[in-house]
Amino acid sequence: NLVPMAEILKKANKEGYAVGGFNINNLEFLQGIIEAAEEMNSPLILQTSEGAIKYIGIDYVIGMVEAATKNTTIPVALHLDHGSSFEVVMKCIRHGYSSVMIDGSHYPFEENVRLVKKVVEAAHSVGVSVEAELGKIGGTEDNVSVDEKDATYTDPDEAVEFVERTGVDALAIAIGTAHGVYKGKPELDFDRLTDIKSKLDMPLVLHGASGVPTEDVEKAVKLGINKVNVNTDFQQAFTERIKEIFDEKPDLYDPRKYCGPGRDAIKAKVKEKIKMLGSQNKA
Ligand code: G3H
Ligand code: 13P
Ligand code: ZN
Ligand code: NA
Repeated sequence: NLVPMAEILKKANKEGYAVGGFNINNLEFLQGIIEAAEEMNSPLILQTSEGAIKYIGIDYVIGMVEAATKNTTIPVALHLDHGSSFEVVMKCIRHGYSSVMIDGSHYPFEENVRLVKKVVEAAHSVGVSVEAELGKIGGTEDNVSVDEKDATYTDPDEAVEFVERTGVDALAIAIGTAHGVYKGKPELDFDRLTDIKSKLDMPLVLHGASGVPTEDVEKAVKLGINKVNVNTDFQQAFTERIKEIFDEKPDLYDPRKYCGPGRDAIKAKVKEKIKMLGSQNKA
């Protein structure tokens, strides 16, 4: 009972809020995230990077997401984050993902268009949604490493042409965010976002949201962002809680006694994010 991401984001765009694209790294992430979303009656996009799929195993991803959504009352999409090739995308679709990102942002424009178009044709024929990226988001992610200074922002007119030619359901744009931890305070290009949204009335995606001040994310949502990706903040919440526990009890050896509290820390952080995005009671 996974739903296509396009359905979730169409409603978000119409009503002016954003849905979390929340990365899962292990079972505790999944449990913490789904419990928070259910308690807040929020739609949810669960996503795995290629690295997370490698770590967990794709059959385990599918199995645990199926278990998590068996009796759920909220709309949930399972999404591939930063898919690097047509082959990886097809593998996820075959295994039951309801949405994929194909990230051709490091290719020249024409090559990005060609790759994304091919993915959209294949995915849409089986009801799967597609996110693509135009412009370069800074920082380090799974396969792509872009120096933050070289990160180039999304050109609004190119974005229009890109969407017209590919037919993507959601577009990730580069407006100054970066994956992972920021060195300084990120400066978002809100004028660029406004310009893009005025030309493209469709779901726009903000990557690298961990470390961006709450009021800046809220402003971006107000200006037309409908999906906000978070990974690092949950990783830090989980790990910091576990460190605290070991500081207090260095002899602890039962993983349930530290992974459980780690899971609770993720859950609390997810609730903060849902509040920030405005997706509470939008299920
Ligand atoms: O962009 C996605 C993630 O933040 C990177 O995930 O560390 O699992 O490759 P990863
Ligand atoms: P952060 O790790 O900065 O939250 O970025 C997550 C992301 O963009 C996943 O695609
Ligand atoms: Zn990302
Ligand atoms: Na970040």
